[in-house]
Amino acid sequence: MKFFIDTANLAQIKEANDLGILDGVTTNPSLMAKEGIKGVEAQMQHYKTICDLVDGDISAEVLSTTYDEMVAEGKLLAAIHPNIVVKIPMIKDGIKAIKYFTDNGIKTNCTLIFSAGQAILAAKAGATYISPFIGRIDDSGWDGIQLIQQISNIYTMQGFESQILAASIRSANHIIQCAEAGADVCTCPLEPILGLLKHPLTDIGLAKFLEDAKKNS
Ligand code: E4P
Repeated sequence: MKFFIDTANLAQIKEANDLGILDGVTTNPSLMAKEGIKGVEAQMQHYKTICDLVDGDISAEVLSTTYDEMVAEGKLLAAIHPNIVVKIPMIKDGIKAIKYFTDNGIKTNCTLIFSAGQAILAAKAGATYISPFIGRIDDSGWDGIQLIQQISNIYTMQGFESQILAASIRSANHIIQCAEAGADVCTCPLEPILGLLKHPLTDIGLAKFLEDAKKNS
């Protein structure tokens, strides 16, 4: 399973990248706004900076919602760097735009997936990645991990090639459950990734090893 970090914060991207396990980055308009990145020029520059930092797929989301505008905006984003993946919302015009980019060799990430039906449609359009938002599904009283499992079963059975990019991850446990459920990628903030490191027996064990080593030195 690939690991992407879900942030536009350069310090966190660097920290995750320094671990040596990072395969890419996802951003969205809310995450860009959180970092104070405003205006087209600043956004383009920020995406370029991220592409220079991380050698992997970098999702950059379109802000338009009509086919013509999404195609025009996506072309500009894709021109920033070969690793840019154009992130497109799961709407009718979005599906048409994904098909356009598929036919023109540009990678896409279909975002805001909340059902198996949406995942089937995005795969039919040839999306490189599809992003089910498992945390937001859990927040609404449904089961996000079950959706990952369902999509994984359908894609395997039907031979769809889109990669399942589990998004809206809230915890280290979510990451483990996504791996079990068949996600190809999980994208999350730095905290859940660092959470995977933690186990009290590791800390206790290491403290004892170091203490014993001192006795012999
Ligand atoms: C996915 O690409 C989105 O950027 C993200 O995972 C949304 O997560 P949230 O529900 O924590 O906002």
